[in-house]
Amino acid sequence: MLSCKDLLSIHDLTVDDVDEILDLAQELKAMQKAGIEHHILEGKTLGMIFEKSSTRTRVSFETGMYQLGGQALFLSNRDLQIGRGEPIKDTARVLSRYLDGIMIRTFEHERVEEFAQYADIPVINALTDLLHPCQALTDLLTIKEHKGKNLRGLKMVYIGDGNNMVHSLMYACAKAGINFVAVTPHGYEPDTDILVNAKADAAETGAVVSVTDDVMAAAKDADVLYTDVWASMGQEAEHDKRVKIFQGYQISDDVLKVADKRAMVLHCLPAHRGEEITNEVLEAHAAEIFDQAENRLHTQKAIMALLMGDMHQH
Ligand code: CP
Ligand code: NVA
Repeated sequence: MLSCKDLLSIHDLTVDDVDEILDLAQELKAMQKAGIEHHILEGKTLGMIFEKSSTRTRVSFETGMYQLGGQALFLSNRDLQIGRGEPIKDTARVLSRYLDGIMIRTFEHERVEEFAQYADIPVINALTDLLHPCQALTDLLTIKEHKGKNLRGLKMVYIGDGNNMVHSLMYACAKAGINFVAVTPHGYEPDTDILVNAKADAAETGAVVSVTDDVMAAAKDADVLYTDVWASMGQEAEHDKRVKIFQGYQISDDVLKVADKRAMVLHCLPAHRGEEITNEVLEAHAAEIFDQAENRLHTQKAIMALLMGDMHQH
């Protein structure tokens, strides 16, 4: 049972909530691999609102819901009345009458917050311009599988844009006790309020969260190197300008040389080879990166089971 109705931000979760999600995700993964039925959400329906593209999120939520014995509805803003201007608060109240949970991927984070405020059912943030919590929780699971049970004291270095991914990783690492360094070019740093919140969360676990623009100094002895695209969805028009500014903010063999010898490389995908990561590094670390993609399924099943299942009480 989680301490909150919705999953909008990892900052809202307690340290115990994060542990509970990861433990259940591992349990559900083991059950799925062993072919053991786990219909925790039988008879339940998840709505999935997409205002941006998706491969992993859409397919993993939809299959995840099926594996939990429920069903999922894909709702594109191209077809819904919200695409024609129906207020989000009305959509939230209507859909609450039909569904047992809703997942939303959209632009402004405030849209998800408003939806959750008016919805009686659990709301899951499946990416906003500000945050991507389902991905960052998945990343903790992937690190746990590859590095062993105890995450505390590990060092993650994120290289690239100060975007939704770095924000959620900062929160996830703070809650898990992983020391976190964001390496971003000047002018593309993470949001200041999120940094302040993450530092406060980190105080509880002893983790250290920091921001720098020095790739090589930061990458020294890193246990996990992480990157994401230089231009996120909605920033396509800035792509060419960003490619010039972000030169050097790339995970390459040179960066790996200064990291710990057993360092993992993670990427939330989709990747732009030759920009934020070289083709060589991505292919050399494909085992970790595609485990990471697979783990979206298991982590989101745990999140849905905890928020929408009978084990959830509010
Ligand atoms: N990582 C991730 O969220 O991928 P999609 O955009 O394909 O859902
Ligand atoms: N930062 C990227 C993540 C995609 C999963 C984006 O928002 O497009």
